[in-house]
Amino acid sequence: MTEKCPNGTMPRELTVGEVAERSGVAVSTLHFYETKGLIHSQRNRGNQRRYPRSILRRVAVIKVAQRTGIPLSEIADALSVLPHDRPLTIQDWRNLSETWRGQLDERIARLTKLRNQLDGCIGCGCLSMQECPLRNPWDTLGEEGPGPRLLEP
Ligand code: FES
Repeated sequence: MTEKCPNGTMPRELTVGEVAERSGVAVSTLHFYETKGLIHSQRNRGNQRRYPRSILRRVAVIKVAQRTGIPLSEIADALSVLPHDRPLTIQDWRNLSETWRGQLDERIARLTKLRNQLDGCIGCGCLSMQECPLRNPWDTLGEEGPGPRLLEP
């Protein structure tokens, strides 16, 4: 349970346990995020991690992005350009979500194509380099014939 400051206000900084409790993310996951540079903490005099309250919004963004399948490394890249000393703004989230929406559309299109190609493999089992679109999906040179097409014109 979070202790209030003597003046009745909420503390400016949170412990890792408080961040975990409020964000619904395990302490171990928060530590992992920190090792990956997604979030930052400061150490207090007792060498314990303390997080600014703005961390909660950042963790929420990370969770949402992960749910859409964005790799953690890409989330880290996107967040790396945003300052850690202020909460993410609505505009920050708009920009991030627009970028990720485009990536999500691409991923959906790629997976849909893959699913459609898989339809042709069901009941086949050949896994042929020449015939199977999943075995050799980008073999455009293969359409010109067998062998090392670039080396033997
Ligand atoms: S397994 Fe035969 S076409 Fe894919």
